[in-house]
Amino acid sequence: MKLLEGKTAIITGASRGIGKGIAEVFAKQGANVAFTYSSSVEAAQELENELAALGVKVKGYQSNAADFEQAQKLVEDVVAEFGAIDVLINNAGITKDNLLMRISEADFDKVIEVNLKSVFNMTKAVQRTMLKQRSGSIINMSSVVGVKGNAGQTNYAASKAGILGFTKSVALELGSRNIRCNAIAPGFIETEMTAKLDEKTVQGWREGIPLKRGGTPEDVANACLYLASDMSTYVTGQTLNVDGGMLT
Ligand SMILES: NC(=O)c1ccc[n+]([C@@H]2O[C@H](COP(=O)([O-])OP(=O)(O)OC[C@H]3O[C@@H](n4cnc5c(N)ncnc54)[C@H](OP(=O)(O)O)[C@@H]3O)[C@@H](O)[C@H]2O)c1
Repeated sequence: MKLLEGKTAIITGASRGIGKGIAEVFAKQGANVAFTYSSSVEAAQELENELAALGVKVKGYQSNAADFEQAQKLVEDVVAEFGAIDVLINNAGITKDNLLMRISEADFDKVIEVNLKSVFNMTKAVQRTMLKQRSGSIINMSSVVGVKGNAGQTNYAASKAGILGFTKSVALELGSRNIRCNAIAPGFIETEMTAKLDEKTVQGWREGIPLKRGGTPEDVANACLYLASDMSTYVTGQTLNVDGGMLT
């Protein structure tokens, strides 16, 4: 029995990295997948073809999660096309790292907009549908950096910590309607982005992790699978660290 058979999920930022991994695991588990991206048109088309071959309904949407109106329109389109929204994964995110001394106001605002305001935009947009359904699971992608802080990432850490407060508040506000809201805090996840880094530096990071390896998009996707499925119907307002023990 597939864990997400018959469920429809919206995943933001799934053209690559962790979001793509989530889309793949969800489709394999029977979910219909609506996913978004910012500019990677070709990668999105490839993913659409790959997932459609698994026999689920799938559609990619170019939509800026940081834009309130675009989020509203996206959700209207998804409801019209798929008929329901059972799971929302707020995964889209960016970094613009710099020391506080050097960070610009524009780079602070941009990261807050794309990483945090997007979560508000999308959650508000799906709320009506989930309230009508009297069910829903919302999963927000935070980071160990949001839990612990990180020098050189004040903007990113603030956005990811803000997600945790938002998650707990939504869990309290919508729990009586059977809408759950949880966060995931990934540690060091190896994606195409980290593949470009110096191997010696990356090896140093791996050695500092209790499980002695970086995580994979699939590691994060499996945690999302648990929180999206009926395996977690009594779990809400939580942050699940998927970090190989990094923060322990
Ligand atoms: N990788 C890690 O080690 C790590 C650790 C902790 C937390 N995280 C979090 O996990 C999430 C995914 O990270 P990742 O490493 O997979 O990132 P990534 O490889 O850079 O992918 C980011 C995805 O988000 C999309 N995106 C960017 N801005 C967007 C916007 N305004 N609207 C809609 N989509 C947008 C991108 O689309 P395009 O391809 O079109 O640009 C892409 O699909 C992020 O929230 C990140 O902060 C990552």
